[in-house]
Amino acid sequence: MYVPSTVVTNDAFVKMGLDTTDEWITSRTGIEERRLVGRDEPTSELAVKAARRALQVADVHASDIDLIIVATCTPDQVMPSTASLVQDKLGAKRAGAFDLNAACAGFAYALNMGAAQIESRRAKRVMVIGADELSIYLDWKDRGTCILFGDGAGAVLLQSADTPGILTSTVGSDGSGAGLLNIRGGGSKYRVNGNGAGPNGTAKHRAPAGDQYLRMNGQQIFRWATQMMTEAAEQVMRESGLKPDQIDLFIPHQANLRIIEATARKLGLPPEKVFSNVSNYGNTSAASIPIALCEAIDAGQIEVGDNIVLTSFGAGLTWSALAVHWTQEIPTGGKSPWTPFRQQLDSRMAAVQSALKRQERRVRSTIDERLGREP
Ligand code: UT7
Repeated sequence: MYVPSTVVTNDAFVKMGLDTTDEWITSRTGIEERRLVGRDEPTSELAVKAARRALQVADVHASDIDLIIVATCTPDQVMPSTASLVQDKLGAKRAGAFDLNAACAGFAYALNMGAAQIESRRAKRVMVIGADELSIYLDWKDRGTCILFGDGAGAVLLQSADTPGILTSTVGSDGSGAGLLNIRGGGSKYRVNGNGAGPNGTAKHRAPAGDQYLRMNGQQIFRWATQMMTEAAEQVMRESGLKPDQIDLFIPHQANLRIIEATARKLGLPPEKVFSNVSNYGNTSAASIPIALCEAIDAGQIEVGDNIVLTSFGAGLTWSALAVHWTQEIPTGGKSPWTPFRQQLDSRMAAVQSALKRQERRVRSTIDERLGREP
């Protein structure tokens, strides 16, 4: 996992003049602080840092990755995908790469897709990353949203194995709730450049003022989320034959402690089996589950043989849940002492190779132009 270094406490909102209190935010959400990105920290940077750590722990070369999936709703640019930027920065020469947008449920969706690639033998190693910077889209005057979100990234490396780790999974969507949580501006409907239809179009499609911000109906999302996270978790538990007392750890999307606690209660899970770090990071969207997973591992709350249930919800509306049987011993700090050095070398090499390729492309096109050669 990787989170930016800037910590913003609840009091910072009070100090900047927002009509709120630390007491309100803590009691209604469980959030005490969150991390926010700086100016030159696009989503791909967070994603690469998390992915490098995952490679280090797994002791795997970037060039051994077959596929990179970046779950994000805050990509660096509309195109190319953030995953392609990550692929280049990692030096993952053999990997295909694409972004997946299922908002906060993105990581669980991506885990599902990555596992399916391995199960169908189309890939042996899939890097699944959840990375988001929703702070970029927050309206700092909207107290109902700006206190909720934080930035970050988390990554896991999926590998083929004899014993399956992901037992069952489910994904779902209910687009009738699309208006409950959205960022409308910047897409093809509300255009940042104001283009109309075709070359003679008028600027009628420009996003109305304020539509570049995240907007949410918190109460409706709250009610739906508690119900949906519970139903999705129940489905994967039923399908994998796991009873509540066989679940060792429940890792729900970290959006609001009240949603997490209500879901756990409905599932009949005691508090000690429920992981939450929402107090430290707020809602980091697609990064929330992998960050929680990493911290649960660091805290010694996951051991080989454990059954884990992950469940998440997000804009769309979308939801996803997975039942996981943990099969892999996690070596702390990598298996070999040379791993960090090799990684540094790998990333330097990746940067050099990328620069050389760009240069080569420039030189080739200049030569072709001079010689009048068709591309
Ligand atoms: O990944 C998906 C992301 N979305 C979510 O997870 C959102 C789910 N929803 C929630 O977490 C909660 O609905 C919120 C935390 C957003 C709001 O909590 P709530 O307990 O549902 O509050 P509410 O919307 O019912 O508002 C109660 C009062 C209102 O004031 P009035 O109308 O009663 O005077 C709000 O204006 O609390 C007010 N309020 C605040 N007061 C102080 C809303 N935000 C704040 C705030 N500080 N930051």
